[in-house]
Parts: sequence; structure tokens; C-alpha cells
Amino acid sequence: MMLQLRSSHGFLGAVLIAFLAGTAACPPYCICDNIQRVVTCIKKQLTEIPVTIPEATKELNIKGNNINTIPTGAFLPIPYLTHLNLQKCKIHHLAEGAFRGLGQLISLNLGFNSIEFIYQETFDGLMSLQQLIINNNRIEEIRPGAFGQLGFLNLLNLEGNRLVYLPPLVFQGLQQIKHLRLSNNMLNNIADEAFAGLWTLKRLSLDDNELQYLPTEALSRLKSVARVDLGQNPMTYLGDESVRMASLKHLTLDNMSLQEVSHTAFIHSPGLVVIDLRYNQLQVMQPLEGLEALRTINLTGNPIQCNCLMSPFREWISNRTKLRAEVFCGAPGVFRDERLDSLRTMDLKCISRPSDHEDEEELNPQSKPEKNNQDKLPCPEHCDCKHDLKHSTCEGKGLRKIPKGFPVDALLLDMRHNDFYTVPRGSFSDLKSLVSLHMQNCGIHDLHDGAFRGLKKLIYLYLSGNEISSLQPTIFEGLPDLTYLYLDYNKLTSVPKGAFKLLPNLFALHLEYNPIPQLTDENMEGADFLRWLYLTGNNLTSISPTALQPIRGLQKLFLDENKLTAVPTIALMGASNLDELKLANNPIKQIGDSAFLPVAGSLQHLWLNDMGLETIFDGAFDGLHSGLESLYLENNKLSNIPDLKKFTSLHTINLSNNPWNCDCPLLHLRRWIENTNVKVTAICSLPENVTGLNVKDAPFKHCKTRLPRKRKVSLTKGQDKRKPKKAKQQHKKQKKNKLQYTVADPTMQPVTN
Ligand SMILES: *[C@@H]1O[C@H](CO)[C@@H](O)[C@H](O)[C@H]1NC(C)=O
Ligand SMILES: *[C@@H]1O[C@H](CO)[C@@H](O)[C@H](O)[C@H]1NC(C)=O
Ligand SMILES: *[C@@H]1O[C@H](CO)[C@@H](O)[C@H](O)[C@H]1NC(C)=O
Ligand SMILES: *[C@@H]1O[C@H](CO)[C@@H](O)[C@H](O)[C@H]1NC(C)=O
Ligand SMILES: *[C@@H]1O[C@H](CO)[C@@H](O)[C@H](O)[C@H]1NC(C)=O
Ligand SMILES: *[C@@H]1O[C@H](CO)[C@@H](O)[C@H](O)[C@H]1NC(C)=O
Repeated sequence: MMLQLRSSHGFLGAVLIAFLAGTAACPPYCICDNIQRVVTCIKKQLTEIPVTIPEATKELNIKGNNINTIPTGAFLPIPYLTHLNLQKCKIHHLAEGAFRGLGQLISLNLGFNSIEFIYQETFDGLMSLQQLIINNNRIEEIRPGAFGQLGFLNLLNLEGNRLVYLPPLVFQGLQQIKHLRLSNNMLNNIADEAFAGLWTLKRLSLDDNELQYLPTEALSRLKSVARVDLGQNPMTYLGDESVRMASLKHLTLDNMSLQEVSHTAFIHSPGLVVIDLRYNQLQVMQPLEGLEALRTINLTGNPIQCNCLMSPFREWISNRTKLRAEVFCGAPGVFRDERLDSLRTMDLKCISRPSDHEDEEELNPQSKPEKNNQDKLPCPEHCDCKHDLKHSTCEGKGLRKIPKGFPVDALLLDMRHNDFYTVPRGSFSDLKSLVSLHMQNCGIHDLHDGAFRGLKKLIYLYLSGNEISSLQPTIFEGLPDLTYLYLDYNKLTSVPKGAFKLLPNLFALHLEYNPIPQLTDENMEGADFLRWLYLTGNNLTSISPTALQPIRGLQKLFLDENKLTAVPTIALMGASNLDELKLANNPIKQIGDSAFLPVAGSLQHLWLNDMGLETIFDGAFDGLHSGLESLYLENNKLSNIPDLKKFTSLHTINLSNNPWNCDCPLLHLRRWIENTNVKVTAICSLPENVTGLNVKDAPFKHCKTRLPRKRKVSLTKGQDKRKPKKAKQQHKKQKKNKLQYTVADPTMQPVTN
């Protein structure tokens, strides 16, 4: 009857029926307002979309639940929804066609979940959607066409994901989009045609990404854009004619590393009203061509040198009565923090100091612009210097000595695959602008003291694949901005004490595949800012209890392929932000109680595969339960593991290739597998008569007293039996001594309360 009514009276009929049905249909744990047609089920630990939601519902708010997957057609029973909120639901998978049937939906909020991929058909059928919010997920990749059907979308928010690359035509089909938010991703590459077809876009937010260059071509496809946010990207240079958006009015370029802005940079964006250049590294500005409409330029927080080089800019400002220019002097000392427009042109002097000829060159007002002209510019023999890009390369030229005479404004120098043997002192002392230095596979044995001196702006230093066996503690002198350091595939046998004190901005340190035997106290001293430490493939047998202490903010620690015989629990104390820990391929045979307690509050991904692991104590994962998202245990010798039922966020687990003993003590695993959406492969090895069966298909027959499916059962007895003997002893001992951490490595001191 319901179907008949719907087909003859359509929507109204359905509403009527919903009304007649009254409150009876409200799902458990939800609140239904049948007048407003709103259903809310916030933070109710729901694991799926409730099935009995009244059909006429317009707004559904299920924020803060535990719905790992949205299956195809999940909302077919409630086709009149206009607003759907699925924030913070631990969603990691959206099936293709998940929202099919929601043709009236206007707003969809999927923020703060763990979604990794957007398939081409994920958003199928959302033909009225105006707002799509997917911020703070884990999206790494978007397939072109994923938004192809969202022709009415106004706002697309993809902030806080893990996008690295935008392929061509990725946003095709967004015919009415106004605001596209891509802030706080990891974008470093944007295809020229990535923004093609976004005819109506007014605002694009790309701030807080990894863009090293302005994506000129890609941005030039945006024909109506009025505002572009590009702040907080690691750009050093804004080249000639690089900003090409005819309709652009407001451009933010704050908190980058700009050292130079070409005087013609904005010539193709004559409508610019506001340019925000705050907090960059600009020392000099030239008058900017073609900005008749400009009303505000903000240069606060730049180390502007108020000398003769700035006088043309000073004059340019004063010629424009409607322009508000916020420019403060960083030097010389007498003018520090003075407003540029409060100084007279005659105050802006250059005093030449013949003794210091580098500075003299910079101070000569004529020399700078002319250096950028077409005259023959310096470039060492066998090398290729691209003056427009400021890249110089001598890759694979069989050079025996580091050449001299690169353009002093070079940003990137690529000298991979040469044969240098040593890097002498002062090799790069005139490259004060260099950001990235590549010296991989150069046969380097020796780095002389002061080798990198003068590289004041260096951010990336690549020394992978050399023969370096030791480092002087002072080797990194003069690299205040170094952020990424690659020393992998060398012959280092130790980490020099205190060397990292000289690198206050070091963020990622690559030491993979060296023969380092241990990490001792003071090794990491001064590396306060370090977040990612890679020690894969070393010869580590121990990590001293305080070795990692200076690195409070450590997020990734890769210790896989080493010779550790125990989880370095004590060393992890203080690393309370760690979210990835790799211990795979170490000869760790057992994991004791509370092994991960120091990092339990933050750890999300744990690799314990390929270790020959035999025993995991019942309390080994204490504290980890709610935050852990992936756990790798494949290729070990485990016959049992602790109960997984408290791991509420787990979405990846690998149990393959272990000799599971499918006897009563493993019953908990079978039950967990039956109740989870997570895909698990675990094969029984014992008892003999079930060898080869999947754990979930094993009979566990003689454990029948514990098997009633629906009831929650207590497993205390079974648990006792399941606990290995050693574990039991250890456990008792722990209780007696009130140990906080029990660590299998006898060299480590337990912590007592
Ligand atoms: C930009 O840098 C300034 C100075 O370091 C800082 O105070 C400000 O918070 C930064 N802005 C952003 C958006 O990061
Ligand atoms: C320029 O930036 C500074 C620092 O953020 C701010 O206080 C000031 O109001 C800005 N001025 C204009 C005109 O935008
Ligand atoms: C400022 O205006 C004067 C007079 O119109 C002109 O000669 C000069 O070139 C202008 N300077 C700049 C930097 O635009
Ligand atoms: C690794 O350490 C062991 C001793 O623990 C030593 O015998 C071996 O030579 C070391 N390997 C390398 C490559 O240094
Ligand atoms: C689990 O590990 C096995 C063995 O290394 C591998 O073949 C398999 O692809 C992994 N499974 C998952 C789901 O990652
Ligand atoms: C396997 O053997 C055990 C005892 O040896 C028995 O209780 C159980 O029923 C057998 N299971 C199957 C599937 O034959």
C-alpha cells in the first residue's frame, strides 16, 4: 500500500505516511523531531547507519559515531535528506555509490574521518549538492571525474588531507563552484590543467602546502578567481610575469620564504587590490609594474634593508596616494622598525665599504637589476645553469672536484653522480641563496669542517649513497635553516654527539642503511624540532634510555631492519607525539606487558612484522586500544595474540603467515573476526585436525560453553589458560614489584613508582 501511495502521490504521499507513522519509527539512541523532520544520533557509538530512520527525514546528524564503512546505497531508505552530517565517525571507506538516491541532498559533511580514497563513483547521484566538506581526512589521491556529477556544488573543502599532486581535470564538472579549499595538504605538484573548467571559482585556498614554485600555468586557467591564498608554502622566488589571473583582486603570499619578487611578477594581474607579503625574507623590493588598482601591500615582517636600493620603491609608494604600504625597515640599525614611508629618499643611503666587497656588490644600486639581464652569466664548465629557474646542474659529469663559480643567486644545485671524494671547507660559501643541494652518489668519503659554511638558506641537503663513515660534531655549522637531511646509504658507524645542535630547524633525518650499532645519550641532543627519524637497516642492538629524550615532538620513528631484541620501551618515554613506529625485521621474540605505554596516547600505526615474534603478553598493548589504526604482525611465529576487542579504531591488521593455534584460547580472535568489518586473514596451523582452516571457520567445538553467539561472555578462565607460562610469571612479578614497565631487555632498568 505504501508503494502504491508513493507512486501516485510522490513526495507528499511519503511525507504524509511518515507523519501518520508518528514517532514509532525513531531508531534507538536517536532523537527524532518529526515536525522539523530532523534526526540526531550524536556520539552514540553506532556502528552503522540506523535502519529505521523515518523516510521523510530531511536532516540527519550522526556526528561522533563509529561507522567504519558507508556501503553502497546506505541512504536509499531516506531519499528526502537535505543535510547529512557524518563528521568524526571513523569512516575510512566510502563504497562506490554510497550516497546513491540522495538527489535532494544540499550539504554533506564528512570532516574528521579517515577516508583515504575518493573513487570515481563515490559521489554518484548527489545532483543537488551545494556543500561538500571532507576536511581532515587522509585523502592522498583524487581520481579525475570524482566530482563530475556535482554540478551545483558551491563549496568543496578538502583541507587537512594528504594530497601531494593534483592531476589534470581533477575538478572537472564543478560548474558552479565558488570556493575550493585545499589548505594544509602536502601539494607540491599541480598539473597545468588541474583547475581547467572551474569557470565560476571565486576563491582558491592553497595555503600551507609544499609548493616550491608558483603554479603559474595551472592558476592562469581560473578566469573568474578573485582571491587566491598561497601563504605558508616554501617558495623562495616569484619570477617575471608569474601571476597571471586577470580577475584577481586579493593575493596572499605570507609566511613563505620569498627572497625575491620580480618587478613584473604581477603584470598580468592588473586588477590586484591587496597583496599580502608579510613574513617573508625580502630585503629589497623594486617598484612593481602594472598595479594601478593596488590599495594595500603589506610587507610587515620582512628584513627590508632601508638603503639606496629601496629608494625607487619608496618613490613608487609616494607616487600612489591611494596605496597603503606597510613596510618596516629591518636594517640598518638606526632605522630598524621605522616605517619606510617615514624616511626621506636622502636617508636611504648606501655606504660602500671597500674591505667587504661582497656587500659592496649588493649595495651598488645598478649592479643588481643588470645582473639579471641577458649578458653572459657565470656558470662553471661542464655545468648547465638555468638562470630563469635559478637551477644549476652538473649531474653525472664525472667531475673530480666541486666546481666553483655558480650564479650566486642559484636556488638549486644538482651535482649527483660525480666523483668528489671530499667536500673541502668553504665549497659553497658564495651560494647564500641556495635552498636545495644534491650530492647523492658522489663517492664522498670525507666532509671537511666548514664544508657547508655559508649556505644560510639551505633547506634540503642530499648526501645519500656516499661513503661517509664519520661526521665531525661541527660539520653542520652555518646551516641554520636546514630542514631535510639525507645521509642514508653511507658508512656511518655512529651519530656524532651534538652535531644536530647546529640544526635547530631539522625536521626529517634520514640515516637508513648505515651500520650504526647503537643510539646513545646525547646523540640527538639539540634536535628539538625533529619530527621524522629514519634508522631503517642499521645495525642497532640498543637504544639508550635517554637517547630520544631531546626529541619531544617525534612523530615517525623507523627502527625496522635492525638487531634490536626488545621493544625500546624506556627510550620511548617522552615521545608522546609518536604516531608511527616501525620495528619490523628485528629479532624480537617476545613483547612484554605495557611495551608501548609511553606512546599509547598517540600511536596510530605499528609495524611488528617479520620478527620471528613468538609471544605477545596479554598486557603488551595496554593503553593503545582506542587510537591504533593499523597493526602489522605478518610473518611471525605467533600462535596466539591478546584480545583485539578494545581496538576500536583499527582498520588494517595483518595476521598472515603465523602458526595460529585454533584451540580454545584463540576463541576470542575468531569472535573478533566475526564482528569486525576489517579484513583479516589468519590460518590455523594447530590443532592438527584443523590445519589450513581460516580462524573464522575453525570449529572451536569443545569450547562450546563459551560459544553462544549473541550473549556477551566473560572469558576470564580461557584467558588464564591462554596466557603463556612466562607471561604469567612476568605478570605476577610485575604486580609484586609494582613495575610500571616490564621490558624483556635485561640491560634496561625498570621504572618503579
Ligand atoms: C606567520 O608568521 C608570523 C611570524 O612568525 C606568525 O606570528 C604568524 O602566526 C604566521 N602566520 C601563519 C598563518 O602561520
Ligand atoms: C599588515 O600586517 C600587520 C601584521 O600582520 C597588521 O597588523 C596590519 O594591520 C596589516 N596592515 C594592513 C594595511 O593590512
Ligand atoms: C614617480 O612620479 C614621478 C613624477 O610623475 C616620475 O617621474 C617617477 O618616475 C615616478 N617614480 C616611480 C618609481 O614610479
Ligand atoms: C653489526 O654488529 C655486529 C655485532 O653486534 C658486528 O659483528 C658486525 O660486524 C656489525 N656489522 C656491520 C656491518 O658493521
Ligand atoms: C599481509 O602480509 C602478507 C605477507 O607479507 C602479504 O602478502 C599481504 O598482502 C598482506 N596483506 C595485507 C592486507 O596487507
Ligand atoms: C579435533 O580434535 C579434537 C580433540 O583432539 C576434537 O575435540 C575436535 O572435535 C576435532 N575437531 C574436528 C573438526 O575434527
